[in-house]
This record gives sequence, structure tokens and C-alpha cells, in this order.
Amino acid sequence: MRVGVIGGGLMGSGIAEVCARSGVDVTVVEVDDGRAERARAAIEKSLGRGVRSGKLSQQDHAAALERLVVTSTFEDLEGADAAIEAVVEDETTKGDIFRRLDELLPDARFLASNTSSVPIMKLGAQTKQPGRVVGMHFFNPVPVLPLVEIVTSIMTEPETVGQVRGFAQDTLGKTCIESQDRAGFIVNALLIPYLLSAIRMYESGFASKEDIDQGMVLGCAHPMGPLRLSDLIGLDTLLAVARSLYAEFRDPASVAPALLNRMVEAGLLGRKSGRGFYDYSTS
Ligand code: CAA
Ligand code: NAD
Repeated sequence: MRVGVIGGGLMGSGIAEVCARSGVDVTVVEVDDGRAERARAAIEKSLGRGVRSGKLSQQDHAAALERLVVTSTFEDLEGADAAIEAVVEDETTKGDIFRRLDELLPDARFLASNTSSVPIMKLGAQTKQPGRVVGMHFFNPVPVLPLVEIVTSIMTEPETVGQVRGFAQDTLGKTCIESQDRAGFIVNALLIPYLLSAIRMYESGFASKEDIDQGMVLGCAHPMGPLRLSDLIGLDTLLAVARSLYAEFRDPASVAPALLNRMVEAGLLGRKSGRGFYDYSTS
């Protein structure tokens, strides 16, 4: 099987890595050669981590890299059996990708989006076959977290859902849950208002960022606190998801705090830019 992954950032590179480790040929498409090179380097680095921790043999590492093609030419996706879109959380950019995928891959088993919040029907509506468009929502870091949320639009066909479930569970070894097509689906509808309220708490001076994070780690056994988790997700992505949630539900809990807007405007995007609520420039 050959899968196309569109976007090789945090999530796309993780999805591609998991595919390649699971014996799937994978072609990753990025916007330009520089980004493509960064995506390849990120995947190689993460595979190297697998070798160091003893989870991956040198042989499997080499085989995974052989299955991987990283390119900046969209047409290199031609002939793929399925596609997973993981570009920036922007409806217009994603819509354009789905129009192009629909034309390039008329026989693909499914055209999936890893969107965190954009309604799948909006992406399906850009294609001539909305029945094969589906949400396939992975979690960050993809090589570590076992969940895939399958999101069905009102047009997604049962055959498509079966194909995605089979691929996620049997080929990639993930566990699936299914959600109807509402902004934020199951997990982000619950998680994002929590993260936003932690940012509001910090913004108001109510407590320090360290104490807010420690409170949830030590008091509730979360693996990381909400401000560190926001940095891991990426503050631009968090802001985009908050906006999608607010656009759909008009719930004040999903309004982005001013601090989040200012940080994104300043380019403080979290771990991926080297600084967010915390500084990662030396790690
Ligand atoms: N890639 C590959 N492996 C990774 C990794 C990465 N990016 N990050 C960590 N790992 C592996 C490590 O190699 C290590 O494996 P071993 O036990 O075999 O050595 C294991 O994961 C634990 O890592 P660490 O010891 O370095 O660190 P940790 O124990 O603090 O775990 C963490 C790090 C996995 C990120 C953990 O803190 C965690 O699970 N945090 C919560 C993440 C979370 O909530 N994600 C969901 C975000 S929301 C989302 O994804 C949806 C959305 O649409 C926004
Ligand atoms: P990111 O900013 O790390 O990466 C996005 C990548 O998309 C960039 O490398 C960019 O160059 C690329 N891109 C933009 N336009 C493109 C195009 N036209 N063609 C090809 N590539 C293009 O973002 P990310 O965190 O990987 O998020 C990607 C998607 O996954 C978003 O929809 C996001 O909501 C979703 N998601 C993110 C997380 C998370 O925790 N970060 C978790 C689950 C889902």
C-alpha cells in the first residue's frame, strides 16, 4: 500500500513515520524543498530515537527510510492508494488540497484529513466524491499516542469508514473512536476549552505558569500541564482550533484569550518555534 501525506510538519512527519514503520510506502508532500528537507530530517531523528530506546532495530530503521519519499511536487502523489492531509489548520488551504487530491487520486480508498477542528463536510464539499472524505485525527506525538479519532461527515460512506478503521487499527496498530462531524470532534471539544482556561488563569495573574502546570501534573496525574501541552500542540494550531470551535458553538469558553493572540502574532508558537510559554531554545 502507498499512502500520500500532505504536510510534513509536527503531525505529518509523525504520521509518515508511523506509516513507514508499519510497512507502508509513504510519500510526504511539502510546500518547498527546504520544508521537505526539514520533514525528512524530523522523521530520521525520530526513527533514530526509536533505535536508541531499543524499540526499533537498525534493519527496521533502514527499511522504514527506504519506504519514505519526501518531495515538494504534489503530482508525486499520483497512484497513491490513500491520502492523509496534515497541512496547517486553515480551511482555505485544506480545501484547496482536497480539490487537488480529488482530481489526482480518483480511485483512492479514502481522502482523510488530520484536521483538529474543521468540519469534514467542508472539505468533502470541495470534491466530487464526498463519500470518500473522512477525518482521521491522530494525536501528538503520533509515534507515542495510540488514538485515532475517525470523523464521519453526513456524506462519508460506510465503505470509507471501514477502510480507514482497517488501516488505522490493523496496519498502524492504533485504537479508533468515532465521532460525528462537529467542530473539535470528541477530544478537542473537551481539551481546548480546558487549555484556554489555563491560559486565561495565567493571563489574569492568578497563579504562575509553573504552578498551574504542576497542579495538573501532580494533582490530576496528567502527563504534562496545560501550558506545556499548549506549547507542544503549537499555539498557532491551538488558536485556529479555538476559532473553529467558537465559530461553530459561540461558547465563551472557546474564545481565544488576548494573550494567545498576542503570542501567535509575536511568533511565539511553542516548542516548534523555540519559545512559547516556556523557552525551548536550548533543548
Ligand atoms: N516522537 C517519538 N517518540 C517520542 C516523542 C516524539 N515526539 N516524544 C516522546 N517520545 C517517546 C520517548 O522516546 C519515550 O519512549 P521510551 O519510553 O521508549 O524511552 C516516551 O515517549 C516518553 O518520553 P520522555 O521520557 O521523553 O518524556 P515523557 O515521559 O515526559 O513523555 C510525552 C513525553 C509523550 C509528550 C508525554 O508528556 C505526553 O504524553 N504528554 C501529553 C501529550 C498529549 O496530551 N497530546 C495530545 C495533544 S492534543 C492533540 O494531539 C490533538 C489536537 O488536535 C491538538
Ligand atoms: P505544523 O505547523 O507543524 O505543520 C504544518 C505543515 O503544513 C508545515 O510544515 C507547512 O509547510 C505545511 N503546509 C502548509 N501548506 C501546505 C501545502 N499547501 N502543501 C503541503 N504542505 C503544506 O502543524 P501541525 O501541528 O503538524 O498540524 C497539522 C494539522 O494537524 C493541522 O490541521 C492541525 O490542526 C492538526 N493536528 C495538530 C495536532 C498538534 O498537536 N499539533 C494534533 C492533531 C492534529
